[in-house]
Amino acid sequence: MKNSVYVAIMATVAAMGGLLFGFDTGVISGAIPFLQRDFGISDSQVELLTTMGLLGAVFGALVSGNITERIGRRRVILSVAVIFSAGALWAGLAPDTAQLMAARFLLGIGIGTASFSVPLYIAEISPARNRGALVSLFQLMITLGILVSYLSDLGFADEQNIKCWKPMFLVGVIPALILLVGMFFMPESPRWLLSRGRKDEAMRILLRTEGDSAAQTVDSIVSDIEKDRGNSSSWKDLLGKEARMPLLIAVGIMFFQQCVGINTVMYYSPKIFGMAGFDSTVAAIAASAGVGLVNLLATLVSVYFVDRLGRRRLFFLGMGGMVVSLAALAASFLSMDTLGESGRIFTVVCTFLYVIFYAISIGPLGWLIISEVFPQKLRALGSSIGSLSVWVFNCVVTFTFFKLIKLLSIPGTETVADGQISYNPAGVFLLYAAVAAIGILWGWFFVPETKGVPLEDIEKHWKSGGLPRKLKNGHN
Ligand code: BGC
Repeated sequence: MKNSVYVAIMATVAAMGGLLFGFDTGVISGAIPFLQRDFGISDSQVELLTTMGLLGAVFGALVSGNITERIGRRRVILSVAVIFSAGALWAGLAPDTAQLMAARFLLGIGIGTASFSVPLYIAEISPARNRGALVSLFQLMITLGILVSYLSDLGFADEQNIKCWKPMFLVGVIPALILLVGMFFMPESPRWLLSRGRKDEAMRILLRTEGDSAAQTVDSIVSDIEKDRGNSSSWKDLLGKEARMPLLIAVGIMFFQQCVGINTVMYYSPKIFGMAGFDSTVAAIAASAGVGLVNLLATLVSVYFVDRLGRRRLFFLGMGGMVVSLAALAASFLSMDTLGESGRIFTVVCTFLYVIFYAISIGPLGWLIISEVFPQKLRALGSSIGSLSVWVFNCVVTFTFFKLIKLLSIPGTETVADGQISYNPAGVFLLYAAVAAIGILWGWFFVPETKGVPLEDIEKHWKSGGLPRKLKNGHN
């Protein structure tokens, strides 16, 4: 089998972890209306149920960095597959709310752990020239998972049967088992094996993934490891000089990935389209299926371009596009009264454009960059901090969205129907546009061009005190 085909198979199998990430974050929205009636739970209990998943993800990212360093990437991904299978079964069979919450917490642990260990594994098995595309498969699978969860929720939804939320969770077992079986046949990351002194095993794998350049890669990794010998990796090292820049980049990029507000659209698009004046059925279909599909297709574009145009170009293109589309979205909400029907369509177009610009840039780039920037001995721990930041920023954005709509509502733009005041969300979208604009400035200084650069050269660049924007592929 050709080296590139072999690597692509490895990356696709591991990226099933991304599909589970997307599926298990998306599935809850369609299940909520039914389980709320089935268990007779209040809105605040529903909120708690959603929070349990996020808390689990924070917990998973927090504890599994060290474990991934100790037992290896492959075993961690195998454990993640077991957690996802058990979590899906438990959630689907849960007899009461307490157990459902515990199951969602468990699934959250799977999501938090998968979200850094999978990109990390893919980055470490990939040759530099197509690492970007291969790691971006992870984001592609997240978007596929979100779409599949919307569609399967739609398929199982049955107004006559309030227990229909059960199969919605249960189908999550299928991708989890695929990951489990697939990963069983995949080898360990050669870079991790070398860091454990297992040179022969690493060489065998590298020969299959990189062919002729395997020996050169082994030499370069081994020489880095020799230099670091005796320096164990621990949380304290993350505060050291060597990790400072990668850490700033990882937390920074995840701040912007979340704080441009993407999950307000992912989680609440039916509500947003509702605010634009669509009736609920149209809103729900356009919102879930439409946003999900656009997100998936645009991510495909990014997979194609990330190793051709490079990280920085995609970053600036996407962030610039988000500033414009978010500002246009705000403008369309402000002129809803005058624009009427065309205003509504304009809102949908702006939302789709916003999702497209996100999906070609910071969506995949966030996961890619955190898997690339850390030195070998801190890669697992460091990227787990990147993943932890995602969940923390995600919580902040999703929990403040409706409060911010009210707080930033421009006086005189509220509407009143049936005695209920609806606030105009223009202000909050302008805020996200401002965050994206600041992100462009930040990116100028902090987004490194890692296209085609071997992981070992990225590490050397930091060691020699190089700036992110000065990183370049020495072979070009
Ligand atoms: C983000 C998620 C988001 C998804 C949307 C991911 O990269 O981490 O928070 O829901 O993209 O596609």
